[in-house]
Amino acid sequence: MLNPQKGLRKLRDGSLIRLKLGDWTIKSKLQALLLGVSLGSVVVVSGIGWYQTQATLRSKIAEQLSGIRTTKAEQFESYFENLNNQVGMLAADGNIVKAMVELNGGFRNLDRNFIPPEWDTALDAYYTEQFFPRLQKNLSPEAVIPSVYQPLGQAARYLQYHYIASNPNPVGKKDHLLDAGDGSAYTKAHTKYQKFFAGIIKQFGYYDLFLINHKTGDIVYSYFKESDFATNPLQSFDSQNALKDLVQAVQTNPTQGSIQVVDFKPYRASYNAPAAFLGTPIYSGSNMIGILAVQIPIEKIDQAISRKNNWEGSGLQKTGEAYLVGTDFLMRSTSRFWVEDPKKYETVVRYTGTDKRTLQLMENFNTTISLQKINSSAAKAALEGQQGMMVDRNYRGAEVLSSYTPLKLNGLNWGIIAEMEVGEAYRPLYTLQVILLIAAVIFLLGTAFLGAIAARIFTSPLRLLTDSARKLSAGEMDVDVEVKSLDEFGELAKEFKKVANKLHQTEEELETKKQENDILLQNILPRAIAERRKQGELSIAENFKQVTILNAHLAGIAELNKRLSPPEITKLLTELFDEFDNSVERYGLERQNSLSTSYVAVCGLSEARFDHSKRTVDFALAMLEIIQRLNINYNSALALRISIHAGSVTAGVVGTQRLGYSIWGETAYITSSLQNKADLNYILLTGSVYDRIADSYTFIQNPVVKIPGLGEVETWTLVTTRKLVLSQVELVQSSFAKVKPIAGQAAELFYNRLFELEPSFRSLFKGNMKEQERKLMTTLALAVEGLRQPDQIIPAVQKLGRDHAGYGVKAEYYDIVGEALLWTLAQGLGEEFTTPVRKAWEEAYTFLSEIMKEAAAELELSNIGV
Ligand code: HEM
Repeated sequence: MLNPQKGLRKLRDGSLIRLKLGDWTIKSKLQALLLGVSLGSVVVVSGIGWYQTQATLRSKIAEQLSGIRTTKAEQFESYFENLNNQVGMLAADGNIVKAMVELNGGFRNLDRNFIPPEWDTALDAYYTEQFFPRLQKNLSPEAVIPSVYQPLGQAARYLQYHYIASNPNPVGKKDHLLDAGDGSAYTKAHTKYQKFFAGIIKQFGYYDLFLINHKTGDIVYSYFKESDFATNPLQSFDSQNALKDLVQAVQTNPTQGSIQVVDFKPYRASYNAPAAFLGTPIYSGSNMIGILAVQIPIEKIDQAISRKNNWEGSGLQKTGEAYLVGTDFLMRSTSRFWVEDPKKYETVVRYTGTDKRTLQLMENFNTTISLQKINSSAAKAALEGQQGMMVDRNYRGAEVLSSYTPLKLNGLNWGIIAEMEVGEAYRPLYTLQVILLIAAVIFLLGTAFLGAIAARIFTSPLRLLTDSARKLSAGEMDVDVEVKSLDEFGELAKEFKKVANKLHQTEEELETKKQENDILLQNILPRAIAERRKQGELSIAENFKQVTILNAHLAGIAELNKRLSPPEITKLLTELFDEFDNSVERYGLERQNSLSTSYVAVCGLSEARFDHSKRTVDFALAMLEIIQRLNINYNSALALRISIHAGSVTAGVVGTQRLGYSIWGETAYITSSLQNKADLNYILLTGSVYDRIADSYTFIQNPVVKIPGLGEVETWTLVTTRKLVLSQVELVQSSFAKVKPIAGQAAELFYNRLFELEPSFRSLFKGNMKEQERKLMTTLALAVEGLRQPDQIIPAVQKLGRDHAGYGVKAEYYDIVGEALLWTLAQGLGEEFTTPVRKAWEEAYTFLSEIMKEAAAELELSNIGV
């Protein structure tokens, strides 16, 4: 669970962050550092780059847009100037002067002409059926008031009837009629000049061309024969009539060559379409004879601005355009977007406040001139005479970069605006941003990747070192560090290797020491106790109820010095004790001490044994065998006095500086006390041992031993490992009873056979042979008799053995005597000498001879001073 209080405290003093940073691996820290440095560089470099480039780009974009605006402005100004020049030149043209004179004359003549009613009817019909409906479409919701438009003067009605109402050409092509066929002077002049004007219209593209009586205001000629043809704007009921303004302007400034301009406004004669006029006085000589007026063609204006809608070619791309704006804040050129997609345009400008009717008019007139409101700040600035650049919201509601300037136009206060949506204008900036961003990301990814590789390369020696250190701490000593670099890590690895080797060496030394210690410990302590001690158990002391202790005293060492050199003695003793040690384990005993003259071993101590006494006695017998074998090998005369006692002991590890596993208590004391009571190479044991193994071997009881402080102890001596079975004793006795009657013969046979087998024996017998035969048979009879209670005869048998040693009888002679005895019995008993009988005799003979041999051997040892 998190402790919020603690977390808060950590956060406050910053230790949490430090802690976390501290937890980072060097690899992570390196990567973070590289990434951080790269990030910093990227931010700084990109920042400076961005700041510099974007400023340059911005000014470049602004320059470009201003350039476009300037070009467009110049194009339009030049077009307008041309227009002025054209009108000026046309007014001075002789044909025009003549046309003015002639058409005006013709017109005058018609002033008082009678107009038949059917002409008026036809004219009415034209107005009602053709003109008013079309006008109404553009005028609505304002209603058409017929009296306002229908011509009043006679000349007007005359000419409109002939050139409009009865003109067979459809509306829009009324100019095709050259001769109305009325034969009037007007028609003559018209026929004469209409083609000439057609050439001018074709050449300059005027919407219409007018010749006007400068005094009366009568339009004596119009090329296209619209409803203003032959009318008088000065008398028009239409207060908005732009032509009226023009006539008045020219009347006010009648100077030859001066050009008057009337700005766009809805013109009823053109079905309320926006119309602007240019006019100049016509002079004949120094007399002003009329006015030449042209209706400025919208297409030409648009062409001057858009260059045939080639916006992209002008550098205005997808969202840019240039347009003119008048003092009424209405457009003076057609919007690019209207031309390109009127439907979309409508949807867009509806949102910015353009009403439905205006949109309808745009559709009707196919232009946005004098219809589209431009309320932008750029338009305002341009109309106020300022020139500049701004980010503005335009008439379509788009955020645009807008370059504006007022135009230098004769009589018109217009401005021109070139603009482009900010998104597109500044696209190079955004592209730059994206490029910078992508470059930064690629750079950072690259740095991260390289950082990861670098960190890996940089930290791999550390990792190897850590792995090696880990192995080392896990106990793997044979650790190699594969750092091959020559840098500081290489140095570190070298030093680490040295440390590891040193550690390895120390470990090995320690292991050797430990093994030595273990061996030492096992030498001092029983294996199981040594093991417990190694496990850390220091205080070891326990009571054992049933153990058997053996105490063997080595006799004859002093005598050894006479026979053997010290190295030989050492070799003999080492071999002897090694063999004892090997045996002691085999029999399941534990050696207790390490004195050179005695050997103490216990059975049943660290491991409980139910047959501890039997094992101990068998080990004692093994010891006797070992010592006899070595005596033969070394020609030595070592002997053991072995005492064995069973009972309870206390055992424990004694000492701190010099360890020892000791047993103490009454049992141990008795065993050691009895040690010198045993005969050489005889095993002396107490009642507690005898009781356990009485059935295994043959013993004789010794006189009781007095032990100081404890009293008397009963002891037995093991005389032979043979144990006669009662059935065999009986067989021996019963068969011997059969030989008894022929004892003399048998004895004779025996000796004859013996000397036959071994003639050298004869010399051993010094006395009378007959006497010898008798003694032998008597003794045999006694021995056979005594087999039932061996204790009774053993001392005598031992004595006989010792006596025989005196006669020069050696241990190995007994086998031949045994053979002669068995042969004799076979002769005497005949068929009754069955295999069981033979076996029983073999046993009995071996039993007796063993005792005799042991006694003889002990005597020999005693004799040589062991
Ligand atoms: C169980 C085996 C033996 C028995 C029961 C036995 C019995 C006897 C007896 C009773 C005597 C007379 C002792 C005396 O005068 O006080 C004797 C003497 C003698 N025995 Fe044995 N003996 C045995 C084995 C041997 C053997 C293996 C030899 C070896 C060759 C041997 C050679 C002699 C000799 C040389 C004498 C002394 C003769 C003399 O005094 O001139 N005996 N033995």
